Order: sequence, then structure tokens, then C-alpha cells
Amino acid sequence: MENTVLVTAQAEFMEAALHELRRFDNNLKCETLLAPDIALCTSAGVARLTSKAAGERPVFVRHLAPAQTVIPLSNSEQDAGALAVAIAGLPTFAMLERGQRFAVQTRFAQSNDQSVSVKRAYSSGQLNQQLAAAFAEETGAVESIKKPQVIVSLLCADLNAYAGISLSSDNLSDWPGGMRHYAQLPEQISRAELKLLEALETFGVSLPDSGDALDLGAAPGGWTRLLRDAGMRVVAVDPARLDDRLGGRVEHYRGYAEDYLEEALARRKKFDIIANDMRMDAREAARLLVQARSCLRPDGFIISTLKLPHAAIDIDPSRNLKEAIRLLEKHFAVVQAKQLFHNRQEVTVIAAKPQPSLP
Ligand SMILES: C[S@@+](CC[C@H](N)C(=O)[O-])C[C@H]1O[C@@H](n2cnc3c(N)ncnc32)[C@H](O)[C@@H]1O
Repeated sequence: MENTVLVTAQAEFMEAALHELRRFDNNLKCETLLAPDIALCTSAGVARLTSKAAGERPVFVRHLAPAQTVIPLSNSEQDAGALAVAIAGLPTFAMLERGQRFAVQTRFAQSNDQSVSVKRAYSSGQLNQQLAAAFAEETGAVESIKKPQVIVSLLCADLNAYAGISLSSDNLSDWPGGMRHYAQLPEQISRAELKLLEALETFGVSLPDSGDALDLGAAPGGWTRLLRDAGMRVVAVDPARLDDRLGGRVEHYRGYAEDYLEEALARRKKFDIIANDMRMDAREAARLLVQARSCLRPDGFIISTLKLPHAAIDIDPSRNLKEAIRLLEKHFAVVQAKQLFHNRQEVTVIAAKPQPSLP
């Protein structure tokens, strides 16, 4: 099975994800969908595909994991032993060297067939623990759930498990299936906060601890809270109400972004971060962000969601996205987009360094 890879993407964007991967391997073939968001694919060379993908950062592919062996499951307590033996027999098991940080990441595939409900004698957490303890003892590698260098990926479908071992950098995410989870905090204002946290982590940027932020489409105020709590002064723009818990260092412009930007440009306002989460067509949002770039300080950046329509016979969401990104690329030197685990019908984009204006 050395040519088999598990591709994870949001179900609705699976086709777009496979299309992206075919740029790196035009022989990539989807053999079956193990779940609406997990495709079992064959590739001419999985190692080449995954390292190419890691370098090129596709938008819709959330996670890649090699499937180097398939193990029949009885869904009883006996499975853990059988899985341990099969995984320890893989040639890639040698990657678990003494002192190497590793994690076992087990996922259960949500069956495509709603009428099938598999009863398992173990949870994914129990399998992770049992297998990691066995591998650590056998190899001297050290279990590290948060910062693994090597990942043992295990996907349990109804009757079979698919296992493989790879560098975490080749999986495109350190999290099982790219499912980045955050602890729920009592001060959290909206679920949208998780999108901003995940975006910052994914794009490798952090919020400054001072300066000015503009938050477009701010209500109820989750992003505003994160920007403010980092230490920034925030102008929150939204016709809707902000959560009452937001107070100091937040100015609420209760109106539309289009009107605020007109004023801000006229008054030559400057911001270190411009955030946007407005419910608005991706291309329209991109046009507004291009307009807003004159309000961005030279080292600042824009972080924005781009909302996409659902696919239909005459609607191609990827086309809308391409148009929006092309527009941003014309005006910013750095543009990177990703569909995050916390994104629904949208992607998140970061744009920085406005291009010098043409003479
Ligand atoms: C997904 S919510 C934003 C959630 C927010 N980021 C948070 O963390 O709580 C989208 C918001 O965009 C606002 N919105 C839509 N069009 C807008 C516009 N033209 N100008 C300003 N806000 C707009 C809506 O009122 C809505 O509150």
C-alpha cells in the first residue's frame, strides 16, 4: 500500500482539494470516500506528493496521511494488539528513533452510510494511549501530543483500519485530520474567535501587543475581543450590536464598512491590522480590502474570511475564490489562503505588504 494516501478536506470542498493535489501528481486517483471528508487515494508517489503539498500550501487540503497498511478490525479489545503488531512491522517504524517526539493520532471515520453504526470496544483516546505507550517502550521515542515530529496516523473505518507513519510537516497539520481544537473559555464571545486563533497559528503570525486594529463585520465581537485583549485599540465596524462585555479600548462604529472606509481614507487613518469577517461575497470583500490597503501601516497585515457560495450547476465557488485572490494578489505582495477547520462555507486569507503603486 505504499502508494495510498488519505486526503482530508471539508466534504463540500473535497473535489477542489483533489483538484489541487492533481497539480502535484496528475495520476492521483480517488479510490473511495471513507467518509464525506476523507478520501482514500492512490498516488504515483506519496512521499513526493506530501512534501510538494507541504511546500505549496494548498487551500482546501486540510490534512494528508499515508496509508501504508490496512488492518482488519473486529472492533473488540483485540484490535489494539493487532494494530500495534501491524504498525511495528512497517518499514517506516524506524522513524521512531530514541528521543524522537511522536504522537499516535487515531480517527474514526464517520460512515457514509447513516444506517450503519459501529460499536467499538475502545475510544480513539484509549487507542492513542495504548499504542503510544507500546511504541515508546519499544523504541525509546517520546510521546508528544502537542509538538510531534513523527506521527503514527490511524484511521478506523467500519471494518478496516488504515495506518501510516510520516513526518508531521508532511501531514499539513499537527492535528489528527487537521482538526484543531481549542479549549472553550468563559470570556469567549463567539465561535468566530476560533477562526481567528486558528488563522493566526496557521499563517504563523501573532497579534501585536499594542497599536491599532480595524475589525470589519465585528459583531457580536469575538475577533474584537481577541484584538483588544492582545493589547490593541480596536475600531469595530458593524451595524449590529456588540456584546456588552466589550468596553475599554473599543470604538464601535455602528454602520457599514463601506461608509467607515470612506471616512477613514479621507481622514488618513492608519491601522496595524485590518480584520474582516463580514458576511459578503468573496469578490466584494476583496474589493473592499484593496480599498482599505491605504489605511494599512507598512508592516501591518490584513486577515479576512472570504465567504463562498454553495456549489450549484451554474455556481462554481472555486471560481469566486480565484477571482478574489487574483484581485488581492494584484495589490498585496503576500497573499496566502487556507480553508481552516473552523471555517464553514469560507476560507481565510492573510494579505500583507501592499504592492508599490505603479507610476
Ligand atoms: C460572522 S459575523 C462576524 C463575527 C465576528 N467576527 C465575531 O468574532 O464575533 C458577520 C458580521 O458581518 C456584518 N456585516 C455584514 N455586512 C456588513 C457591512 N457591509 N458592513 C459592516 N458589517 C457587515 C454582520 O452584521 C455580522 O455581524
